[in-house]
Amino acid sequence: MRALTENESAWVLETLKKIEDKMTVVTERNRDKIPYTTENGRFDDKSVSDPCWWTNGFWGGEMWQLFALTGNEMFRQEAIGVEDKLDKNLMNTDGLDHDNGFKWLPTSVIRYKQEKNKESLNRAMLAANNMAGRFNLAGNFIRAWNNWDNVDRRGYAIIDCMMNLPLLYWASEETTDPRFKMIAVAHADTAMKEFVREDGSVNHIVVFDPFTGKVTETLGGQGYAVGSSWTRGQSWGIYGFALSALYTGEKKYLETSAKIADYVLSEMPESYLVPIDYRQPKDVDLEDSTAAAITASGLIELARGLDDDGEADKYLDAALRLLRTLDEKRVSWGTDTDNLLNNCAVDYHGDGHNMSIIYGDYYFIEALMKLADKALRIF
Ligand code: GLY
Repeated sequence: MRALTENESAWVLETLKKIEDKMTVVTERNRDKIPYTTENGRFDDKSVSDPCWWTNGFWGGEMWQLFALTGNEMFRQEAIGVEDKLDKNLMNTDGLDHDNGFKWLPTSVIRYKQEKNKESLNRAMLAANNMAGRFNLAGNFIRAWNNWDNVDRRGYAIIDCMMNLPLLYWASEETTDPRFKMIAVAHADTAMKEFVREDGSVNHIVVFDPFTGKVTETLGGQGYAVGSSWTRGQSWGIYGFALSALYTGEKKYLETSAKIADYVLSEMPESYLVPIDYRQPKDVDLEDSTAAAITASGLIELARGLDDDGEADKYLDAALRLLRTLDEKRVSWGTDTDNLLNNCAVDYHGDGHNMSIIYGDYYFIEALMKLADKALRIF
C-alpha cells in the first residue's frame, strides 16, 4: 500500500483533531452510557433499554480509539464501563449470537491486548467459546441469530458474520488451540461459495437446512430484495474477507475481498454517497453513511493485505474519497449533536433511515486512525 501524500496526511490529522475536540465534549456529557443512535441530537442508552443489542461494543471501541488518539483517561474509563456492562449480556444465552465478535472484539480483546488483564481475557474467551458452539457441521456455517419472536433461524447464516470471525482467530492465537480457527476457516469457505455471486455482489442471508446442510433459499434481508446488493452487506464482505486473509495468509480470501470491492467500485455513484442497496430503484435516493465508512475501513484493510501490489492504490484512493466525502457532506462537526455521521440507515424497507448509528461513527474513526497509523488493532 502506498504512503499517504503530505496533503492526505494533513487532512487525516486535521480530521482526527476535529473528532478529538467534538468527542471530548460529547463524551463528558454522556458518561456511563452505551449509545446506539441519537434522539433530538442526544445519545440514547442501550445499556438500560437493550443490554444485549448487537451494537453494544462499538461505543467501547470508539472510546479505546479515542484513548489511543488522545491519552485522555476519560475515554479509557468509559471503554471499561462498557465492557463491565456487557457482563449482563454474557450471562444471557438468548442474547448471545454470532455478533459476540462485534461486542467483545472492540472491548475485551482490545483491552486485553493493551493491558493483559485476566478479566478481559475471561470475557473474550467465554464469548469465543459460545460463538464456536454455533457452528453447524451440516453445511459448515456459523448460525447467525436465535429464534427471537418465534422465527425458526436454525439454518440462518449472514454475510455480516465475516466480521465476527476474528474473535475465533484471536482465540486460537491466544490459546494455541486450532479448533477456533478451523471453525472460522470452514465458515469463511462456505461464505465464499454460498454468499459471493459471480459478479462480486453478495447475498445478505443464506438459509441452510440445519440437518442436511443444503441451501434452501437466499433472502434479501436488510437490502432491497432477493438477489439485490445491500451496501452494508457488501462492506462487511470486503472487510471480513480481507481480515480472514490477514489471519490465515490465504490468498483466496484476499481475492474474494477484491472481487467484492471491484463490484462495489463499479456501482459507486459519482457523488460517493452510498445508497442502501446498489440495486435499489434509480429514482430512490435512500442513503447509508455507515456503508460508506465500513467500505472505507475495509478497503484500507484490503490495500494493506495486497501490500506493494499495484492494485492496492485504487482501493486506498477509493477509501480516501469515501472518507473525505463523509467529512465534507455527512458529518455534524458542531457539538450541538452527539453523533458524527448523518444519513445512516438500518435497512431498506424499515423506517430506520436518515439517522445516526454508532457503528458509522466507529468505523469512520477507525479508518482515519488506521490511515494515521495510530489505530488500536484487533488484528
Ligand atoms: N449486522 C447487522 C447490520 O449490519 O445491520
